[in-house]
Amino acid sequence: MFRRDILSAQPEKLYGAWMAEFRTPFFRSYLVNQPDLVREVLCARPGDFPKSDRVSEGLRPLLGNSVFVTNGAEWERQRRIIDPAFEGGRLREVFPAMLAAAESAVGRIGDKVDGGPVEIEAEMSHAAADVIFRALFSLPIEHETASQVFDAFRDYQRSQPLLNLAAFLPLPSWIPRPYRRRTRESAAKIRGLIGAMADARAADIQAGRAPDDLATKIMTTADPLTGKSFDPAEMVDQVAIFFLAGHETSASALAWALWLLADNPEAQARVAAEADGVFGGRQPVFGDISRLAFTRDVFREALRLYPPVPMMVRESRRSERFRDRDVPRGSQIVLSPWHLHRHSRLWECPDAFDPSRWHSTNGKTCQREAFIPFSAGTRVCTGAGFAMIEGVLLLAMIVRAYRLETLADRRPVPVAHLTVRARDGIWLAVRKRKML
Ligand code: HEM
Repeated sequence: MFRRDILSAQPEKLYGAWMAEFRTPFFRSYLVNQPDLVREVLCARPGDFPKSDRVSEGLRPLLGNSVFVTNGAEWERQRRIIDPAFEGGRLREVFPAMLAAAESAVGRIGDKVDGGPVEIEAEMSHAAADVIFRALFSLPIEHETASQVFDAFRDYQRSQPLLNLAAFLPLPSWIPRPYRRRTRESAAKIRGLIGAMADARAADIQAGRAPDDLATKIMTTADPLTGKSFDPAEMVDQVAIFFLAGHETSASALAWALWLLADNPEAQARVAAEADGVFGGRQPVFGDISRLAFTRDVFREALRLYPPVPMMVRESRRSERFRDRDVPRGSQIVLSPWHLHRHSRLWECPDAFDPSRWHSTNGKTCQREAFIPFSAGTRVCTGAGFAMIEGVLLLAMIVRAYRLETLADRRPVPVAHLTVRARDGIWLAVRKRKML
């Protein structure tokens, strides 16, 4: 079942089950959908359920010991240094970087308007990579090194297997995987490029001429407990994860949100009208984001239906008892936004696109209980606040400028690579919108 694709091959009953057990000769996996068990694993006892090495393994050539793959004391130290860069106040400071990237994206799409259907996933990858590069290094993605990193990331993704395959399939870790060499080569290239950027930034910090962006903030923050900051090698690990986590995920969410809007013209018209009412013909400002309430509900609904990180895998450090079943030590515990967000016992009309659900009573319960696009608990996504601003801003600006339409013969099929992507891209007809 998992050989084809972990999303399209899911049996219907997993969308109504509280828990499912998969047995392999080497380990057991438990897909956990019951909200109080999800909370137990992510929020109440995260120390008993560290990240699974089976999943991190494929990412290590690229991410080294970055915050995404570490556990325990090392992870805690890394978060103490990283978290201050993402505090609420700092988000206002990265807003100009997001705005510049959004304006470029609107311009690039405009260049393609008359040339037939537009592959919107590629456009959103470009836009999200631009946002993260500007926020991290104050450089647009068109900068030579930045665009080399972006190209190398694309290669890296193509060499990756489906996301969580290793967590389900009975493959012991000594079996050679065909993707290994290519993955290693593209990872080494990316790390070389990022290393050169981090070195240049270290020199600029030393000389007192570094811009006040996320890279400078992270490189100059010392751990309050030990007084030490990241050394240059660690910085490469962290920049690699910021780039990967910060652009792949946002690109996936934005592309699906635009597709959902193309498929729901009324909602699309409301987003355009809201953007027009809030920032009209002027440039958006940071304070506008909180006033784009409907656009935010659309983005949330896209994160519900197409969570960019479809599944997260943890490992039980001791034996547990879940739903009257023994869960042996070393089991893989799969938390699945993909199933939880479409669970038939938790959501009304789970497969329907309905941004208004975020204001109904049902929506409020589910929002807390069964909506974890950014995970939850101590390991919650560091970039959640960042992504919610970036997503709303880009959606509002793109939809204000263009009317998007689906193409009858090109309905996207979701597949799980590093994030949830469409098997053959997301193709839309795009026209200039007449301003209201
Ligand atoms: C829509 C956009 C995004 C989504 C849906 C998303 C989702 C997630 C999820 C589900 C995790 C937890 C993964 C796990 O535990 O296995 C995570 C972790 C992380 N994300 Fe995001 N993310 C997004 C954007 C971002 C951005 C913009 C950044 C940085 C600028 C970022 C940085 C990180 C980092 C550093 C972690 C690791 C945190 C840790 O393990 O302590 N993410 N993200």
